Amino acid sequence: MQLILPGIEYEESYRDYIEELGDEERYPFPLDFDHSDFAALLAKLERFRQSIDLPEGFVPATTYWLVHGSDIVGVSNLRHYLNDRIRYAGGHIGLGIRPAWRGRALGNRLLELTLEKAAEHGINPVYVHCHKHNEPSARMIIANGGVLESEINDDGEVVQRYVVNTPKQSHTVRAYGAV
Ligand SMILES: CC(C)(COP(=O)(O)OP(=O)(O)OC[C@H]1O[C@@H](n2cnc3c(N)ncnc32)[C@H](O)[C@@H]1OP(=O)(O)O)[C@@H](O)C(=O)NCCC(=O)NCCS
Repeated sequence: MQLILPGIEYEESYRDYIEELGDEERYPFPLDFDHSDFAALLAKLERFRQSIDLPEGFVPATTYWLVHGSDIVGVSNLRHYLNDRIRYAGGHIGLGIRPAWRGRALGNRLLELTLEKAAEHGINPVYVHCHKHNEPSARMIIANGGVLESEINDDGEVVQRYVVNTPKQSHTVRAYGAV
């Protein structure tokens, strides 16, 4: 398993992934982007990463693919910073595992790898949100060190807001603790 930036060689697997999702709500949100022109989709994801021509209200964000051989098995999206909207509900990271690959600890792994990317971006702490009723998601966040900070109401749904210290911060805390 590898975490990579989107690439043209995965077009077929991406199309299969979207088909497999069917009518399910898609996480993270870039899975909703039009992919009929695959090169245009890749260009759009890259503009998000580089903060070029972002739609109103959006912050720069990097999309990662978790791949196994020639298959995309999961997708994550790392927001480079928070604005008021995603500070309230949304957080730094959105992610999903392809349906056929769920329940095999890949969600845990994808979040772990994306938290490493967050650390590389100097994001600390990292806020990861999920709907309270989404037990696999909450457990995945807790398995990665998430601590429940608050619960809020967003459009009639309870959103849990977890906070995670990225690896670098944890080491720093340990080092200070040892002094
Ligand atoms: C949430 C999601 C990413 C988890 O990925 P996954 O690969 O299925 O999860 P994992 O196998 O890594 O398991 C994560 C945790 O959830 C638990 N879990 C998995 N499936 C579960 C289920 N159906 N019910 C309850 N708990 C479940 C696992 O036991 C594990 O907890 P643990 O580490 O305490 O044992 C995946 O279910 C998904 O893509 N869902 C749709 C999109 C989504 O909801 N994204 C999150 C938006 S915030």
